[in-house]
Amino acid sequence: MTESQAMADEFDTMAKWTADAVESLGPDHAVPAGCRGSGSPAALEWLAERLGLRSGLTLLDSGAGVGGPAELAARQFGVAPVLAEPMVDACRASARLFSRPVVIASGERLPFAAHSFDAAWSLGVLCTVEDQDGLLSELRRVVRPRGAIGLLVFLRAVPRLPTQPEGNHFPSSDELAALLDRAGLAVCEQAALADFAAAPEEWQTAVNRVDTVIEQRHGHDPRWQTAQEQQQLIGSLIKDELVQGTLVSAVATS
Ligand SMILES: C[S@@+](CC[C@H](N)C(=O)[O-])C[C@H]1O[C@@H](n2cnc3c(N)ncnc32)[C@H](O)[C@@H]1O
Repeated sequence: MTESQAMADEFDTMAKWTADAVESLGPDHAVPAGCRGSGSPAALEWLAERLGLRSGLTLLDSGAGVGGPAELAARQFGVAPVLAEPMVDACRASARLFSRPVVIASGERLPFAAHSFDAAWSLGVLCTVEDQDGLLSELRRVVRPRGAIGLLVFLRAVPRLPTQPEGNHFPSSDELAALLDRAGLAVCEQAALADFAAAPEEWQTAVNRVDTVIEQRHGHDPRWQTAQEQQQLIGSLIKDELVQGTLVSAVATS
């Protein structure tokens, strides 16, 4: 199993299966099922408020996945989101579920002119990227001067992890500070993901129903098994507090 195949199973194939399952179950499942890896709605709302998201503003979501967080920001805060995501089937899944503009692009090479967006966020993406400096400097480049940038980063809380999902490179807290500094980004506020309320029951029920349909349809498929293993690994690292989610709102320093 190569690193890129494991990532494709987790982020591309699963995205397509998620969209298929949501289409069977109904549109009220779309946002919860499309917010995989981005924490609770309370955490997303906190970040959206810190970034000052509101009607009339544009928001780039870099590494948007299935598109749930961007959709939540659009529905609850009125922003116009644009999604960028390197996995083709994830782009197709978000287009099917939410019909928002989406481009196939890596966060390290965004196909947008400088200062194209009022704000940008990238949720649960930094640790899946080798060129972490590149991802952050691109976010800074495409956001207007003094525009807000939001991150959800999973940090390594110990010097060495016993194991980690394929393709993940969790920075330490000090490494994140150095990355932000090199990108010319100043932290405005930071919060621990663990401190936010869990998702409400109806949200979790929707996620569980989608998961059940996917397992019934694809549980025999090795790609489903790989995706499960990847998700269980990160889940157990978080549960054991070896990896901790942190939300960051930042602005360019100049
Ligand atoms: C844990 S998921 C989070 C998805 C989404 N942001 C969310 O919170 O629901 C990580 C996402 O990062 C994407 N990704 C992987 N490498 C990337 C890169 N180089 N640039 C941008 N996104 C990338 C994956 O395809 C996946 O959709």
